[in-house]
Amino acid sequence: MARILDGKAIAAAVKQDLAMEIAQLRECGVQPKLVVVLVGDDAASASYVRSKERLARELGMEAEVIRLAADVSEVELLRQIELQNADDAVDALLVQLPLPDHIDTDRVLAAVDPNKDVDGFHPQNIGRYAMGSPLVWPCTTAGILEILVRSSVPLAGQTAVVVGRSRIVGWPTAQLLLAHNATVVQCHSRTKDLTEFTRQADILVVAAGQAGLIGVDDVREGAVVIDVGINRVDGRLVGDVDFDSVVAKAGAITPVPGGVGPLTVAMLMKNTVRLARLRRL
Ligand code: GUN
Repeated sequence: MARILDGKAIAAAVKQDLAMEIAQLRECGVQPKLVVVLVGDDAASASYVRSKERLARELGMEAEVIRLAADVSEVELLRQIELQNADDAVDALLVQLPLPDHIDTDRVLAAVDPNKDVDGFHPQNIGRYAMGSPLVWPCTTAGILEILVRSSVPLAGQTAVVVGRSRIVGWPTAQLLLAHNATVVQCHSRTKDLTEFTRQADILVVAAGQAGLIGVDDVREGAVVIDVGINRVDGRLVGDVDFDSVVAKAGAITPVPGGVGPLTVAMLMKNTVRLARLRRL
């Protein structure tokens, strides 16, 4: 049976470390501040944003949510971003995605001050992934690394296969594994024989958004399996990996829920603290 990589416990340890670090920063007169811009009233986005605001405050940081109507103009959204860029008290700025269709997401992400870009989605930071040393890695990618490192999974020389190439998870995760000297294969929806690749993985990261995509025959014995998928099937939350069968063959596996998910918000806080340090110390 695989070792279950407990995301909740790892996230709790990250938060505990952060609370201490933030207390020390406050003694030096630095209180990190996170601003989240939320456009529209999508229930899932609103819920994520509330948990970000709550955790930031719980850890002793300042947090502010700017709520804009679903029909806000792109010009007005860009103006709000400019105001936050110019506000010296703001260390970290995040625009919750997805944005409404009438707004050019790329233009909005490029408007965020790269030094406050806590998601790591600004083109300048994306360029820095390619150099292996961005200011921050995107939160989910950073969470995957935190799980691997805190679970003592070696990366250098390992064969890592990433399924998915999204800008939010798949692509930055492949870059991060490469930066840590893994041999990386990036698979995606057009990959011809997915199984042929996934079976070679010492570390298999699945971020495709497709329930049951990876079954027991797709996994090498003893592999470390990181399941980033969050799918609702018959009212139940499941990942992209068929946990019940793969758990018997893998060496370690993250569950859904309770795996990568809890790390994502925790890493947003860690990224916020890092940007505050870089800007102010
Ligand atoms: N929506 C889903 N995931 C993310 C994320 O990582 N950052 C932002 N800003 N929005 C998201």
